[in-house]
Amino acid sequence: MGKLDAKIAIVTGGGSGIGEATAKLFAAEGARVIIADIDDRAGNRVASEIGAAAIFHQADVGNPADVENLIKSAVDHFRRLDVLFNNAFASTFGPIGETPIDGWQKTLSVTLSGVFYGMRFALPQMVAQGGGVIVNTASISGLGGDYGAGAYNAAKAGVINLTRAAAIEYARKNIRVNAVCPGVIATPAVLNGLIARSRDPQRARRRAEECHPMGRLGRPEEIAKVVLFLASDDASFMTGSAVVVDGGVTAHTGLMGHPL
Ligand SMILES: NC(=O)c1ccc[n+]([C@@H]2O[C@H](COP(=O)([O-])OP(=O)(O)OC[C@H]3O[C@@H](n4cnc5c(N)ncnc54)[C@H](O)[C@@H]3O)[C@@H](O)[C@H]2O)c1
Repeated sequence: MGKLDAKIAIVTGGGSGIGEATAKLFAAEGARVIIADIDDRAGNRVASEIGAAAIFHQADVGNPADVENLIKSAVDHFRRLDVLFNNAFASTFGPIGETPIDGWQKTLSVTLSGVFYGMRFALPQMVAQGGGVIVNTASISGLGGDYGAGAYNAAKAGVINLTRAAAIEYARKNIRVNAVCPGVIATPAVLNGLIARSRDPQRARRRAEECHPMGRLGRPEEIAKVVLFLASDDASFMTGSAVVVDGGVTAHTGLMGHPL
């Protein structure tokens, strides 16, 4: 028996990285999965790798009309929506004093408003059907500041507190809302993005690994397993939590490096 047997789940940003790993794990645990992504090639690839348990729906989560349409078509198709994983993101990086205004706006619109839109349109359906589960991808970057990531830090902190607000508002409607806060995970966003674009990619990867007391980056599947837990009845008394999955990063004061 799977942990999500017969459940209907939407995974945004399901075409890559953490979303891809989670969509695949949800399907392996018995869910029917709607993969939502702005990138139709990536989303279709993941849906076809999963097979009959998955369909792809193209959506820009920064566009409220797209998100409303995504939720509506999932409900039209499957008659209900049990799990919403709000996971897509976009971000600009750079010092706050040099951040382009449109980069700030896009970061907030996709990474924070996208989560709001997902909940805004899913919650009425979940209330009407008598319950549901929402998991939002935040980040340890929502718990503290990073050099050159002010917009991302602000958006992810917003995701964490929006998660708490939704959790308390809907706790008596049989709807649980939690956030997951990954450390640095080896996904295309990191490997082909931040690391590949740095001046010395090998050094950047080593430095990122060394920030983690475990001495390595996380794997997308290691986040997917926690999202599955939060989405399943195993987490039946959890709501409003921001679950840190970071190889020990936030256990460290930040003073001194590794002694070796
Ligand atoms: N990788 C990390 O180190 C890390 C750490 C902490 C948090 N996170 C968070 O995990 C989530 C997934 O990141 P990832 O590393 O797997 O990234 P990724 O780039 O591998 O995947 C992100 C997916 O989101 C899609 N996407 C981008 N903009 C979109 C939009 N407007 N509408 C719909 N889909 C859109 C992309 O096409 C892509 O398929 C994000 O919320 C990210 O902030 C990642």
